[in-house]
Amino acid sequence: MIPVSAENEWWRDAIFYQIYPRSFQDSNGDGLGDLKGIIERIGYLKSLGINALWLSPFYPSPDVDAGYDVADYCDVDPKFGTLEDFENLVSAAHAVGIKVTIDIVPNHCSNQHPWFVEAVNSGRGSEARELFHFVDGRGENGDLPPSNWQSVFGGPSWTRVSEPDGTAGQWYYHLFAAEQPDFNWRNPKVLAEFKRIMKFWLDRGVDGFRIDVSDALIKDTSWTDTEGRWPIIPKDDASGVHEIYRQLRAVMDEYPGDRMAVVETGADDDIVALFIRPDEMHLAFNFKFVKAQWSADSFAHAITSSLQANRAVGAPVTWVTDNHDTVRSATRYATNLELAGAYVPNFMGLEDVPSIDIDNRNRALALLLFSLPGATYIYNGQELGLPNVNDLPDEVIQDPLFARTQGEFRGRDGCRIPMPWQRGVEQFGFSSSLKTWLPIPERYEDFVAEAQDHDPASLLNFYRAAIQLRTSHETLRKGNVTNIQINNQVLDIEIQGIERLRVLVNFGPHECAAVPDGLVLLASRAVSGQTLPPDTAVVLRLL
Ligand code: GLC
Ligand code: CA
Repeated sequence: MIPVSAENEWWRDAIFYQIYPRSFQDSNGDGLGDLKGIIERIGYLKSLGINALWLSPFYPSPDVDAGYDVADYCDVDPKFGTLEDFENLVSAAHAVGIKVTIDIVPNHCSNQHPWFVEAVNSGRGSEARELFHFVDGRGENGDLPPSNWQSVFGGPSWTRVSEPDGTAGQWYYHLFAAEQPDFNWRNPKVLAEFKRIMKFWLDRGVDGFRIDVSDALIKDTSWTDTEGRWPIIPKDDASGVHEIYRQLRAVMDEYPGDRMAVVETGADDDIVALFIRPDEMHLAFNFKFVKAQWSADSFAHAITSSLQANRAVGAPVTWVTDNHDTVRSATRYATNLELAGAYVPNFMGLEDVPSIDIDNRNRALALLLFSLPGATYIYNGQELGLPNVNDLPDEVIQDPLFARTQGEFRGRDGCRIPMPWQRGVEQFGFSSSLKTWLPIPERYEDFVAEAQDHDPASLLNFYRAAIQLRTSHETLRKGNVTNIQINNQVLDIEIQGIERLRVLVNFGPHECAAVPDGLVLLASRAVSGQTLPPDTAVVLRLL
């Protein structure tokens, strides 16, 4: 066991495991995963060798956006358990050396949040409305939205309310669904409230936060029409967004034990780096791998550009290939299609794509991920090689993206299917219920954790081996990437620390003579002599 609490700035090279609570483990047979279920699986998490958890939202929520519409930031939704269950989860994780980080959703809340309910009821010009973006409409009777900005989930980003006297009234701004009104972060009350919320959870022992849509807190409130469909969201110092993070950082620094936060931003690398300057947040997801094609060029570019940008601010890079918003990498890299995120129109044609031996790619990708210095995030089920589920029937789809785009985009439910744990039992051991919140397809039987646990050649056991390798080689966690080259389709990375290591990945379809003299520490599949088979990674120590 790694004594996590003994190490300073543990987050710099930690492996974080994202748990999507509703899909991890159901403990009470209602078909929805819950906090007690996570506690039941602590042994599994420990056996993986990860250092920390990130829990997606478990707060009271009407679930318009699977919990990312929060109605109460300081409680647990009864469908997931109680605050006491949460405290027990933190203790159980800490007892085996695993840190616990949670999702914070500061950009918007649920339209059921008491502040928003009050704002609608209080009418024009009220203080309650100042906490959100209520604006008069354009046109003669204010019948037109204040700007042409579109919501990320499709449709307009403005919704009109009825005033307390029943007349058609002001419009409020929402970057996402209409049920997710955006806070007005220029109002100091909002900042004060989020300081309180963070303290509430820090007091309960959480080790850190994942900050949802962190770069969008400050809008251009001139509400000028745009050429494209997207809003104008300034992210520079003048915008004031960085001052917010400095203030939140100060709150975190009041607590002992190296608490941390990772920001979610899809901006370019140099903008992302602004959010992780020494007095702001600690880590920022690098989404380059999510968008990368299976090629040495694409991966080399992803690695170099983010290393460069982060070096300038002294922050490690945070590697990630999968999360609850992406098409799972096991499906992405089984095709050569552009499948990066949520906006995959109906997964047309996926069935016709020639099948690639994804198992080899899954293994090669895992070894690359765990060999790169910095922090790493993996997403539950990734270690089992779960494919995306692209054929969910329309009537079970929950993602608001589907309805808001009139079915143009199927949305993200396909990567949110419950975990298959065991063969021969109800719902593969996820739940004793006949119905789960999203159905688990029969083909998930091939991926169950228990069978993989017993199979030395399984992906799960390869994840454990690659994590173990990283844990026992400081250079893989804290070293410097000193050189990156491409020979044919082989990506060749040199990492220097207390050892001199090389990581090679053959992205091409042919065997390549590329392996230098050295001691093979781990290979994603058998390597002999100087040649590297296709879709294979190897880590070696130079002699
Ligand atoms: C983030 C979340 C995503 C959610 C959105 C709105 O991107 O990861 O799941 O839908 O924010 O909160
Ligand atoms: Ca449950």
